[in-house]
Amino acid sequence: MNRLEDVRNIVDKLLDRMMDRVEMRCGFVHLYGVSATAVLIARTRGLDEEIAAVAGMLHDLVSYETGDPTHHGLRSAARARHILRSTKSFSDEEIDTICSAITHHSEKDVVHGPFEELLKDADVLQHDIYNPAIDAHPRHRERRERLRRSLQAPS
Ligand SMILES: [Fe+2]
Repeated sequence: MNRLEDVRNIVDKLLDRMMDRVEMRCGFVHLYGVSATAVLIARTRGLDEEIAAVAGMLHDLVSYETGDPTHHGLRSAARARHILRSTKSFSDEEIDTICSAITHHSEKDVVHGPFEELLKDADVLQHDIYNPAIDAHPRHRERRERLRRSLQAPS
């Protein structure tokens, strides 16, 4: 077992409690999807892949747990801090990095630091690769187009 798997086991147990099967599926797909996408982006940017993966796993957790997306960045960050402290395997600095990325991940039209931007990009890219036929939220379109261009094959 390692730290990322510890976090994934905690998230699995929390999502397993959800009564709505469709929302539960969305939770698993999106949180694991953003986590994997965050690793991919971290690899291209020379950022810590494990920290990126953990941030992805926890970034929307409160929305799925409560069904209420209000201020979910801030609320999921508080939830993440509690979960990460409970594992006793993350430093305060790592927890601050993860929680800052989660806090700001919905502010897609503002530019923050490397991990905040990584999580925003992973969030947008996961939605895009889950179903490219679904249009992006208007505030996410510019970011999605930039990400798509960065993945284009060289001509
Ligand atoms: Fe998300």
